[in-house]
Amino acid sequence: MLKNGIKVINKNGLHYITKDDGKLSTYKPWLGDAFSFLYDFIMQRSIFPKKFSGDMDRHHQILVNLLKDVHEKRVLELATGTGSAVNFLPNRNQYTGTDISQGLLKKAVTRFRDAAFADAQFYVTRAEDLPFDENQFDIILCILSLNFFDDLESVIKEVKRVAAPTAVFICSVPVPERNKCQSTIRGTLLSETALAKQFETHGFDFETIPVENGALLYFKAIRP
Ligand SMILES: C[S@@+](CC[C@H](N)C(=O)[O-])C[C@H]1O[C@@H](n2cnc3c(N)ncnc32)[C@H](O)[C@@H]1O
Repeated sequence: MLKNGIKVINKNGLHYITKDDGKLSTYKPWLGDAFSFLYDFIMQRSIFPKKFSGDMDRHHQILVNLLKDVHEKRVLELATGTGSAVNFLPNRNQYTGTDISQGLLKKAVTRFRDAAFADAQFYVTRAEDLPFDENQFDIILCILSLNFFDDLESVIKEVKRVAAPTAVFICSVPVPERNKCQSTIRGTLLSETALAKQFETHGFDFETIPVENGALLYFKAIRP
């Protein structure tokens, strides 16, 4: 269900929000459409080993373990990218993906279809300003993306608004204190303590997942 007054049109499997003048809301893509096909290769061969000092297969396994019992839930993902969630989210869920980058999302449409997710939906939207009505989702995923949001405060408020009571926000994000090699990681890196404080300020219960994978922190934040 969409927020009151929000209108969308569906083009090639992506939902675009229409503006008052009838034009589609689009955003400067994080990674240009022309480079979208390289994304997964770059993550596996470069970003995981060289920037995170971590391992992508282990990353997927950690998330598989976290999500293996999640079925028949309304799952929202912030910053879906090319759809890496097919590697760890069971397909018997009602999935809604969002991202500012149309080129990456187009890849996700194909991957979710190939992974037999029934009726997955994809929206071109900022995580800071979601088009959905309140109390819509049971699980909200945000994988390797929190550090790229311009306004984390607004994202947390939006998560709280669209999440059902006791919904769980599941996140993996690089944090400075785990970045032992001090590699240059893009975006704004907040410490675990700073992240916990931000979520707790909005009433969430913050819970660190006790796993190691280089610079990455895995955590849950449970909506009050
Ligand atoms: C490193 S990629 C992670 C993608 C995917 N979650 C994964 O694990 O492969 C970061 C993603 O954040 C998206 N992004 C950046 N800023 C955003 C924003 N304000 N709202 C929504 N998506 C955003 C980018 O388009 C990109 O897909």
